[in-house]
Amino acid sequence: MTIEENKPLDDLNTFGLEVGAKYFAEVKSVDEFKGLIQTEIYKLNKKLILGGGSNILFTNSFDGIVLKNSIKGISVVSETETEVIVKANAGQVWHEFVLWCIGKNYAGIENLSFIPGLVGAAPMQNIGAYGVEIKDVFYELEALDIITGEVVIFNLNDCNFGYRESVFKNKFKDKFFITSVSFKLTKLSSPHALYRFKTDYGDIKNTLSEMRAYDLTLKAVSDAVTKIRQSKLPDPQQLGNAGSFFKNPSVVKEKYEELISKNPVMPNYSQKDGTVKIPAGWLIEQCGWKGKVVGNTGSHKSQALVLVNYGNATGNEIWNLALEIKKSVFNKFGIEITPEVNVV
Ligand code: FAD
Ligand code: EPU
Repeated sequence: MTIEENKPLDDLNTFGLEVGAKYFAEVKSVDEFKGLIQTEIYKLNKKLILGGGSNILFTNSFDGIVLKNSIKGISVVSETETEVIVKANAGQVWHEFVLWCIGKNYAGIENLSFIPGLVGAAPMQNIGAYGVEIKDVFYELEALDIITGEVVIFNLNDCNFGYRESVFKNKFKDKFFITSVSFKLTKLSSPHALYRFKTDYGDIKNTLSEMRAYDLTLKAVSDAVTKIRQSKLPDPQQLGNAGSFFKNPSVVKEKYEELISKNPVMPNYSQKDGTVKIPAGWLIEQCGWKGKVVGNTGSHKSQALVLVNYGNATGNEIWNLALEIKKSVFNKFGIEITPEVNVV
């Protein structure tokens, strides 16, 4: 396989930042990866795994080797009358995989429609939207040890999934090259399948009725979620961004009581562990950042949680804005917000 030198990454990160990599290898199979790790360039350089670049902020060009995961393919591993285990290779585009499952009438990930990026990155932060996270349908994943190439299988418990969290974002960050992810989905074609569509979250129900989608199908839910997302989030092709820049913070009950007494309209969501989640977008808006343009960057006019590149931003400009926003949220509310985006 070829290792490219001084590779521009401008089109490989959704912030659209003009950055590059000293070395770059596009990995199309497990065997290619095993060959790559024998090379001197690989052994001597630091490594960065890249999927679709939709959750990454480059503050600089990468002085090492970027491994772009392009291992494609989807297959059915096993099935019963009502359930199916589907394996998607890591280089598959996530939304195309969702549409493939919908086409087969396999239920479970339709609420995760239209999330950018590739399958391999989905477990990294346990992607979530509209009341579903991949942990809800996750079966197992295969990964290669980044140094030895040894194949390791991770099951649900091994991944330690949480809200926008997993072992791959913490303890095992940059230690494993995920090559495939398997999901346990429900076969809606089976008359014995038990499945409850999740339409309670946000505007799904209203959007379905606006669309006159009276028959609840996987496609209808997927279309509704896609429609809502398109109306709320800027398209990275038009305006560079990486979705929510920060995670939504959770606070303990006492802190929540203090905040709600001062801000009675503050949106809030009670969590199973007794804490209360507060939308970071609301906190950031209250600090006056929403729609504010700072040099070549800013907080988006209709979703304050999304930081954008107006064309010529550097990663550092975006990062400095993020730090300013974080500071002002802490000063006003006493809440630490932490980035969701992976900063390199
Ligand atoms: P990348 O950005 O390429 O990588 C992300 C991280 O994963 C990096 O640390 C990288 O090193 C690591 N990684 C990537 N591939 C592998 C692999 N094969 N093995 C090991 N590590 C790997 N996220 C949500 O959860 N919910 C949303 O609703 C959502 N909406 C978004 C909307 C927009 C407009 C945008 C731009 C982003 C949104 N995101 C959302 C964030 C992003 O789409 C997801 O985090 C996605 O899973 C990132 O995939 P990627 O392939 O682009 O990963
Ligand atoms: N809000 C404001 N001002 C803003 C933005 C939001 O007041 O500028 C308020 C809204 O009015 C609403 C609440 O905050 O009451 C929540 O907003 P929204 O429904 O837009 O969702 P979010 O919490 O900002 C989260 C995820 C998204 C995911 C959506 C839908 C995080 C960090 N973000 O956004 O994921 O798509 O819910 O489930 O959890 C991502 O991770 O990149 C991402 C886009």
